[in-house]
Amino acid sequence: MTGESKLQWIYTSKNKEELEQRYDVWAGEYDNDLDELLGWLGPKVGVEVFARHVPQSAVILDAGVGTGLVGVELKGLGYTDITGMDMSQGMLDEAAKKGLYRQLDQMVMGEKLDYADGAFDAVISIGVLTLGHAPAESLDELVRVTKSGGHVAFSLRPDVYEERGFKEKQSALEAAGRWELVEVSDKVNILPKREPPVEHQVWVYRVCPDGK
Ligand SMILES: C[S@@+](CC[C@H](N)C(=O)[O-])C[C@H]1O[C@@H](n2cnc3c(N)ncnc32)[C@H](O)[C@@H]1O
Repeated sequence: MTGESKLQWIYTSKNKEELEQRYDVWAGEYDNDLDELLGWLGPKVGVEVFARHVPQSAVILDAGVGTGLVGVELKGLGYTDITGMDMSQGMLDEAAKKGLYRQLDQMVMGEKLDYADGAFDAVISIGVLTLGHAPAESLDELVRVTKSGGHVAFSLRPDVYEERGFKEKQSALEAAGRWELVEVSDKVNILPKREPPVEHQVWVYRVCPDGK
């Protein structure tokens, strides 16, 4: 299968069990297919935006770590304390080979995460909040595990933002005083070697103190 057909195969998963199995199968070829063949810019673009708000000393959760491509970019900008989490053990095993993560945990976004309240200074999630992957409800847990004053950064397709409950969830968290928007990036063609183009925006929120 080509990188493009692997992507189609991933997106036609019928449920989260099948998605997890397919990522397990894809794990060993993911970097070559997505990064080399399709020119995946998500990690580079996401970390560039993230770095405008988060100091290098931050304790970071990479949610939906995949094979650790976000970790490569974070390390390149001087971040050292990074925990990775993903539903696919195959992807986590590939991330472990890169040797960049303090800890790698198998968990599912959309379910309760096994981390304490405020365990992290910042969360980054790139290419994970999307069709058939992690739902808008995942954001509740990402906010819970982030310290007050810390940041939650993630990439999102504009159509997914509008049509898949993210707009409502992000606004509801804002209205409840759980977070405030600090940046939303321009739309970037995130798979430049692929036709048709796929645009993402990177959103960064600051988590507010409880009750504020
Ligand atoms: C397109 S990859 C992105 C990986 C990495 N962040 C990157 O930028 O290369 C999506 C990753 O999200 C994981 N994933 C999808 N749905 C998930 C969920 N509900 N909970 C945790 N991980 C999930 C997949 O296993 C896969 O590793």
